Amino acid sequence: MNLLTVVGARPQFVKAATLSRAIARHNAARPGAAIVEKIVHTGQHYDANLSDVFFQELEIPAPAFHLGIGSGSHGAQTGRMLEAIEAVIGDEKPDAVLVYGDTNSTLAAALAAAKLHVRVAHVEAGLRSFNRRMPEERNRIETDRIARLLFCPDERSAEMLAAEGVRGRAEVVGDVMADATRVFAPIAQRRAAVDVSDQYVVLTIHREANTEPEALRRIVQALKETGWTFVFPVHPRTRNVLAAHGIEVGPQLRAIEPIGYLEMLALVAGASRVVTDSGGLQKEAYWLRIPCITLRPSTEWVDTVLVGANTLVDPADLTRLGSALVEARFPADAPPLYGDGHAAARIADALYTLSAL
Ligand code: UD1
Repeated sequence: MNLLTVVGARPQFVKAATLSRAIARHNAARPGAAIVEKIVHTGQHYDANLSDVFFQELEIPAPAFHLGIGSGSHGAQTGRMLEAIEAVIGDEKPDAVLVYGDTNSTLAAALAAAKLHVRVAHVEAGLRSFNRRMPEERNRIETDRIARLLFCPDERSAEMLAAEGVRGRAEVVGDVMADATRVFAPIAQRRAAVDVSDQYVVLTIHREANTEPEALRRIVQALKETGWTFVFPVHPRTRNVLAAHGIEVGPQLRAIEPIGYLEMLALVAGASRVVTDSGGLQKEAYWLRIPCITLRPSTEWVDTVLVGANTLVDPADLTRLGSALVEARFPADAPPLYGDGHAAARIADALYTLSAL
C-alpha cells in the first residue's frame, strides 16, 4: 500500500520516527506485503532546532516533499497547507494519508485527503481537553470527524469517540510517544545532557494562550517568585514575545535554545520536576517518573492527573504554583499509562490489513 504521512511540527517528527521504524520492520517480516511510505513536511516548523535535528538524530527518512509553508495566522497557514497538500495527494494518489495529533498541519492534511476521497488515518485520536479556545482542540475534533481510521492511545479516547458518534473505525493501539520514550530514553541517557549540575526544574511554555504578552509576563513573574531554578528551552514563539515585550526571565529561569529530542529526554530524566504547557511533555515526565505541573486549566492527558503525577495550575490563578512545586511527588504506585510501547507496530499492521478492505 502507498501511504502518505504528513508532518509539520516538532512532536510529529518524534511520532513519525516510531512509525517509520515499525513500517521497516513490518516490511522486513512480510516480504511482498510492503507499505511504501512517503513523508510530506509542511514546513510549519522550519527552524533547524525545531525540525532538522529531529530528522537527523531520530533517523527519520528524508521527506519526499517539503512544502515550505512556514508561519502565519491560523487561517492563512492552514489554507496554504491545504492547497499544497492537495496537489501532492493529486499527484501521488496514495491509498491512505496518515496524520498525527492536533496541529494545523494535521487538520490541513486530513481535509485535503478527504476532499479527494483518500482515506485518512489519525494517530492520537479521541483526545479532548474540553477547551475549545485551544486551536489544537478544534483541530482534534475536526480531524476525528474526517478520519476513517482512528488510532487511540487508550480506552478513554476510544470511548470519547464513541460518545461523540464519530463514524470512523477506532482501535486502541497505545501511544506512539510511549514507543519513542521506550526506545530513545536509554540512548538519551548515555549521551551528555545540557550541562546542569544542581537540582533543576524543566520548564517549557509555548501554548497560544500562555504566550499572550500579559499572560507570559505573569507566568514568568510567578515562576521567579517560587525561588526554584528552571532550565527553560525557549520555543521561538515564546522567544519572540519575550523579546518584543521586554519580559526579563532573569537567572532563575535559565533560558536555552530549543534542544533535540534525545537531549530533552535526558534533561527531563535528570530533573526534579517538570513545569509545562506541552501535551507531549506531560506524558514523557510520566513515563520517566518525574512529577509534572501543567500550566493549563485542563489537559487531554487526564489520567496523569487522576493518578496524582500531574497537577494542573490554571495560568489565570497562579497563587497555587509555589505550593504545587513543593508538594509535587511521583506516586510510587503509578500504573502504566498509554500502552506498552508497541503502538507503532500495531498501527503498521492495521494499516496494511485495512488497506486490503
Ligand atoms: C504548534 C502546534 C501545537 C504543537 C506545537 C509543537 C498548531 C495550532 N499548534 O504550535 O499543537 O504542540 O506546534 O511545538 O498547529 N516559529 C518559529 N520557528 C519555527 C516555528 C514557529 O519562529 O520553526 C514561531 C513563529 O513566530 C510562529 C509561532 O512560532 O508564528 C507559532 O508557530 P505555530 O506554527 O503556531 O507553531 P507552535 O506554536 O509551535
